[in-house]
Amino acid sequence: MYRVHLMPSGAAFEVSAHQTVLQGALEADVPFPNRCQIGACASCLCRLVEGDVRYHLEPMLTEQEKEQGWIFACQAIPCSDLVVSFEESDDY
Ligand code: FES
Repeated sequence: MYRVHLMPSGAAFEVSAHQTVLQGALEADVPFPNRCQIGACASCLCRLVEGDVRYHLEPMLTEQEKEQGWIFACQAIPCSDLVVSFEESDDY
């Protein structure tokens, strides 16, 4: 199990090594934006602040978006504890 912290809400939940970040949030009754759950709508897009994720199928992100830490929560499987942010950043 890995622990995921959401910013700025501070909500936290656990995700098993085979679940996506979104599945973990929904199972823990933590509100998480989502619609299609198949990596198509981008509702679940958020930024990885700390930690690593992997994908069964790489989502369509540009190199720049990957560098900025954007992940598709409905596709991303944690490889470590994570901190994930929905805050807009002024850095980019
Ligand atoms: S919920 Fe649609 S891309 Fe993740």
